[in-house]
Amino acid sequence: MMFRAFFLFAFLLSTTSHVSAIDFCVADLKAGETPAGYPCKAPTTVKVDDFVFSKYLPGKNNIFNFSFTRAIVDDFPALNGLHLSMARFDIEEGGIVPMHTHADATEVIVVSHGNLTAGFISSDNTPFVKTISEGNIFVIPKGLLHFVLNVGKGKASANVIFDSVRPSVQLFNLALFGNNLDSAIVEKTTFLDPAQVKKLKGRFKGSG
Ligand SMILES: *[C@@H]1O[C@H](CO)[C@@H](O)[C@H](O)[C@H]1NC(C)=O
Ligand SMILES: *[C@@H]1O[C@H](CO)[C@@H](O)[C@H](O)[C@H]1NC(C)=O
Repeated sequence: MMFRAFFLFAFLLSTTSHVSAIDFCVADLKAGETPAGYPCKAPTTVKVDDFVFSKYLPGKNNIFNFSFTRAIVDDFPALNGLHLSMARFDIEEGGIVPMHTHADATEVIVVSHGNLTAGFISSDNTPFVKTISEGNIFVIPKGLLHFVLNVGKGKASANVIFDSVRPSVQLFNLALFGNNLDSAIVEKTTFLDPAQVKKLKGRFKGSG
């Protein structure tokens, strides 16, 4: 009986430590990333703070009048291998999150405050647009152009969840007007007048 109890205890102990070793792979951020993510920290060095992100607060407004705070694997090592990250955006009255894509991630928008008009354009160029407020969740399928406008009174806030530990972001305005792409090419490919291209290059700090 004694022996059986000891055996059971030893078995539980071994399975417990085995299970905790595969419960998570907290990133060893100093080790450098591989295509499969970061290597795991030694389980004995993992702390509860690896699972808690403490800087999830509004940041500084950007040129589009919103602030964007990301909780991604590089600052939140517990996300390593979980195919998931989060961000909040806080957007001034009249502010916009301009047309952009995340080539590698689906996005879920959860409104926490205010009235936002959000939308995406499907790959057959159909717009899907809706004004959403607290209580609404909007899914933006992976890779599609999308945008958000604060159409309500005062500031609005939302949380966004991505199925990637660090989604890529490409903003349409910056891709076209925020770099040194030859203005003649921008004019030809967008059908905009030279004066409009010049104005937009000025606005988004592009050259060329
Ligand atoms: C940004 O928002 C502030 C506060 O609502 C407003 O005064 C300012 O005009 C806005 N700026 C732009 C560029 O929209
Ligand atoms: C959002 O829209 C609703 C319905 O039109 C309105 O009652 C509410 O005051 C609006 N809230 C804000 C923050 O604009």
